[in-house]
Amino acid sequence: MTAMPYLDPNLPVAERVADLVGRMTLAEKAGQMMQLSAQHGVRDLIEEMHVGSILHTSPKRVLEAAKLTERTRLRIPLLVAEDCIHGHSFWEGATIYPTQLGMAATWDPALIERVARATAVEVSATGVHWTFSPVLCIARDLRWGRVSETFGEDPFLLGELAAAMVRGYQGDGLADETAILACAKHFAGYSETQGGRDASEADISRRKLRSWFLPPFERVARAGCRTFMLGYQAIDGVPITVNSWLLDEVLRGEWAYTGTLVTDWDNVGRMVWEQHLFPGHAEAAAAAVRAGNDMVMTTPQFFQGAQDAVARGLLDEKEIDQAVARILTLKFELGLFENPRRPDPARQKAVIGTPAHTALNLEVARRSLVLLRNDGTLPLTGTPRTIAVVGPNADDPHTQLGDWAGASGQAEWLRDGHPRRLIRTVLDGLKERVPAGWKVTHARGADILTVGPDPEGAYFPDGQPRPNVVLPAAPDRKLLAKAVAAAEAADVTVAVVGDRIELVGEGRSTATLELVGAQVALLDALAATGKPFVIVLISSKPLVLPPSADRAAALIYAANPGMQGGTALAELILGQIEPSGRLPVSFARHAGQQPTYYNQIRGQHGSRYADLTQSPAYAFGDGLSYTTVVYSGLTVDTPSVTAGDTIRARVELRNTGSRPALETVQVYVRDLVTSATWAVKELKAYAQVPVAAGETRIVELELPAAACTLVDAQGRRVVEPGEFDLLVGPSSRDEKLQAARFSITA
Ligand code: NOJ
Repeated sequence: MTAMPYLDPNLPVAERVADLVGRMTLAEKAGQMMQLSAQHGVRDLIEEMHVGSILHTSPKRVLEAAKLTERTRLRIPLLVAEDCIHGHSFWEGATIYPTQLGMAATWDPALIERVARATAVEVSATGVHWTFSPVLCIARDLRWGRVSETFGEDPFLLGELAAAMVRGYQGDGLADETAILACAKHFAGYSETQGGRDASEADISRRKLRSWFLPPFERVARAGCRTFMLGYQAIDGVPITVNSWLLDEVLRGEWAYTGTLVTDWDNVGRMVWEQHLFPGHAEAAAAAVRAGNDMVMTTPQFFQGAQDAVARGLLDEKEIDQAVARILTLKFELGLFENPRRPDPARQKAVIGTPAHTALNLEVARRSLVLLRNDGTLPLTGTPRTIAVVGPNADDPHTQLGDWAGASGQAEWLRDGHPRRLIRTVLDGLKERVPAGWKVTHARGADILTVGPDPEGAYFPDGQPRPNVVLPAAPDRKLLAKAVAAAEAADVTVAVVGDRIELVGEGRSTATLELVGAQVALLDALAATGKPFVIVLISSKPLVLPPSADRAAALIYAANPGMQGGTALAELILGQIEPSGRLPVSFARHAGQQPTYYNQIRGQHGSRYADLTQSPAYAFGDGLSYTTVVYSGLTVDTPSVTAGDTIRARVELRNTGSRPALETVQVYVRDLVTSATWAVKELKAYAQVPVAAGETRIVELELPAAACTLVDAQGRRVVEPGEFDLLVGPSSRDEKLQAARFSITA
């Protein structure tokens, strides 16, 4: 074997690739392009299908797969992939951080880079080489089931955070043994659903893609994100999987991307059985290869389909060779032929779930919490008190973690989820963190839901199980009475409400945004006691709260806050930390207000519905501190610039209270006259600034004029000379923003 050139590490990669491709049979090449789920075993995948990659592989199967690969004819190492999207999701005892939406509420790229780095260190010790993260979809319709996987609604913020995450995963580059491949997904426009329905055709123009959906992808493509995943959906009749405009012209052409493309789950098969674009798998395989896909995820029929396509002259074997060469190049560059990066038990012991990672997790959880309302009841300090902790999410370890973690349903080997002892719920946190002499009582008060079988049948046409349907829980008089009694006996109640995994994720969009089940009855009953209560919303996405919630003393949003979330929430409630999170996504008042994102296009009749305002309940950028920071004196030092210049401005911040703040100074730009309709304003920069109690400080702001672009009617991103407003403040709401004019001259 050693005589074979491809095994010689001293030869250039291109030579090794050419040598190896030359030795492969057509079947081995078709297999090399495939990534199959290892949930039901790996032997056939490796021995019969010669797969190049596997995903959803239990720790035991990773080892088995490694052994089997050793015995194959050419010993081509496998790429092992997993959705490690907020920690090593399905590795028992790994550190599970807040979801991407929770991380986004920190607005802190450096912190998110550290999370991704720590995740890569844990993941790389377990024989996994590739994470399907980050998600760069823009959360635009809150009914969509996958909002928790996003960084929220703003393309600029998500570009900042996604780029940081990619840096963290990929570390010092492919030679770094603690690096894992990042994957920017789902390219592109997947979140632009019809009515929130998952993976529906995205009704979106090329201009709109270029305006808001593509910029974050372009950013990570140019920054060296090694892989991209293609969305399920079609745009204007063409599934992304075969969309040569997007893949060839834009991604590989304009952006000069040389990384690897992987389809999403059965995209190629879906073109046959779901979208009905091809009569059979040979035709679908030929189209997918020709469009430049490298790795075909979980379409087992691709194996025969690709071979048939060659036999029937639908595809030239050379076209398959190109894709195979790209995959092999990645494997050679990762050094997998020399070191297949197998699971390393000693390293696992040293790096998984370490105290340092737990501390980082707590730090992110603290920063992810958004205080949305407070009448001064928070923080709870002073004389000893009794706190009643109620609500279905007060002590629910799974909802702390959210989707893609432990028991969220994607992995069959961790059905009960991560060890309970590693997770701190709000109840745990408060019990641990209250000062001596305080008392914490608990009553669940309400349930959210039960589930039942889908009346349409247990399986989809492709054999995938259909999720159960949600049956909202009816109020239970006894449960409710216990919670009311606890609230009446306490000085203050913390009501932890929200959603559950059954309402979250792929194929689980919701028609409504209201609190499901008996939760509204619980809040109504708490309000009726007349005693102070604080609402903690732990939910995968912004929800609509009932009128009784307006009578709460305070409201905190915690997107699934991860293993340490309960501790962080307790610390916040007790004033042991300062609230600093800011909403990365707006909250609606009613599902019918969708979409509620702040950067809407100008132009409509009026500004409200006949029966409801259009203003969101809470807007992008909102979030309070335990003090007040007053903005004043915004001054643009460069009132007239050219497109090559930098706009410089100053604003004064004054902390008028007695507690410190970490203020997120948000910088928006409004282009006053545009050649094509454009967003009413867009976030272009921000700075996170500590402001001590009583302190006044000047914050200097800088913005390249080149960032003040729009996409014109021809689809070109340009700076149009003219007048602009610089809008600076603590939120995206106009009434919170200071404004100053500047102009860009030709
Ligand atoms: C389908 C999801 O859409 C995608 O985000 C995920 O990475 C793959 N399945 C693999 O689990």
